[in-house]
Amino acid sequence: MTPRRSLSTGFQAFTLDPASSEPLHRQLYDEMRKAILTGRLRSGHRLPASRELANVMKLSRNTVLAAYDQLLAEGYIESRAGSGTFVAQMIPDAMVPEPPSSVPADPSRATGEPRRLSRRGLAIDAAPLTRTTSSLRGNAFRPGLPALDHFPMDVYRRLMDRRLRRASTTMLAYGDPQGYLPLREAIAVHLVASRGARCSAAQIIITSGSQQAMDLAVRVLVNPGDTVWMEDPGYFAARAVLRASEADIVPVPVDREGMNVGMGIARAPNARFVYCTPSHQNPLGVTLSLPRRLALLQWAQRCGAWIFEDDNASEYRFEGRPLAALQGVDEHARVLYAGTFSKVLFAGLRLGYLVAPEDLVQPLVRARALSDRQSPGIAQAVIADFMTEGHFARHIRRMRTLYAARLAALLHAVRQHGAGTLEVLEGEGSTNRVVWLPEGLDDQAVHRRLAEKGILTLALSEDTIEPQPRGGLILGFGGVDEKEIDDGVRVIAETVREMLGERG
Ligand SMILES: Cc1ncc(COP(=O)(O)O)c(C=O)c1O
Repeated sequence: MTPRRSLSTGFQAFTLDPASSEPLHRQLYDEMRKAILTGRLRSGHRLPASRELANVMKLSRNTVLAAYDQLLAEGYIESRAGSGTFVAQMIPDAMVPEPPSSVPADPSRATGEPRRLSRRGLAIDAAPLTRTTSSLRGNAFRPGLPALDHFPMDVYRRLMDRRLRRASTTMLAYGDPQGYLPLREAIAVHLVASRGARCSAAQIIITSGSQQAMDLAVRVLVNPGDTVWMEDPGYFAARAVLRASEADIVPVPVDREGMNVGMGIARAPNARFVYCTPSHQNPLGVTLSLPRRLALLQWAQRCGAWIFEDDNASEYRFEGRPLAALQGVDEHARVLYAGTFSKVLFAGLRLGYLVAPEDLVQPLVRARALSDRQSPGIAQAVIADFMTEGHFARHIRRMRTLYAARLAALLHAVRQHGAGTLEVLEGEGSTNRVVWLPEGLDDQAVHRRLAEKGILTLALSEDTIEPQPRGGLILGFGGVDEKEIDDGVRVIAETVREMLGERG
């Protein structure tokens, strides 16, 4: 691009590019500002009159005036009545001392020294939520992904539209940090009816998903150094919150009956907090047995521990008899129950809820208000309508049928393609299943090989604290159609055989 023209006004040349997407007045402003900051135009220097500069540069006078106006407004130049326009005596950027050019702006970036974070900041920084999976584009087999293309968008749009049309100004202002009351009431009705929970709207706090519920509970209840139980294998994002809180994490193994409560008591009898997924363990999918539930509640009551029950996606259960939520059996108010709309509706909604013992509601709401005040008002109102008008229950029913068919397709594909190599762990709920790999095969290596082929899985060992006897892959089938499930499992089985062959 040839520069349009240059002007030597006795100090330096300006170059403007008429083909640039940047308007000419902005380019002229930039050039002049640069000349002032680098000293090419010195304080007190008289600038050409706008008409004269426009003439010489073949620009419109308005262009020059716009640039001068901006420089005037920012204090780079000043006009003196009757004598013209001058470079200001005190130029604004000069008031901020510039570092000498040989020293980088932020020395820690160049030297690799740790940034000056607080101790808490360092702990948070060491507990990232990112996974090795995120960059692949396909859906097969992204864990936790619901069938988003089956979400009733037309209904949602209609409800949203109605809310927006009727929105009162109160809906646009700050609302109750505990959450929109009709939504809390609808959730209480849902939890009592379908999860056997014992709660009222007064105990429900609307959160930005169960992740925030976990963060709030840990912030309010766990001190750095406190002992906490964490299911092993267990949900990585919950572990990250515990790590960030500088808790002393004690892994509690999981078997076919769920978290081994007796082992937890033996390892950390005085723990202060327990993270668990009783209805279907994440990631193994097993259900915490009744005797273990009772043992957990008794122990928690005896030693004053808090139990965080993450009941994520409990709406989906395909085998076995559903067990009521732990919260509903808790006689001593030790359980905090978290649920979310991320799996039933969609994760981008960022709405979930925490059911807290009554005496914990106030500190939890205050903690929530401190970080982000509240969840968005209109979104809460739309979901309240979605629930009270029956769309929620209808959507769950439809999705249960769809997911049951997808699960059947997954089990069939594993039997057909993976006979002798792959084995599915019996689970009872959720839209993920764990597939065991042949002994001795490194699940992270299999995961990487599959990623190269465009198949997304999670290595079970990424979700474990203590080494496990056998590797596995976590497969999400909710967002994958039956054909893709079949194709994907075939590739997994072939890849596993290939890797077994290489091992010799
Ligand atoms: C066990 C568990 N808890 C919570 C969540 C989701 O959290 P959120 O409600 O913050 O989206 C997931 C998502 O995959 C999960 O697997």
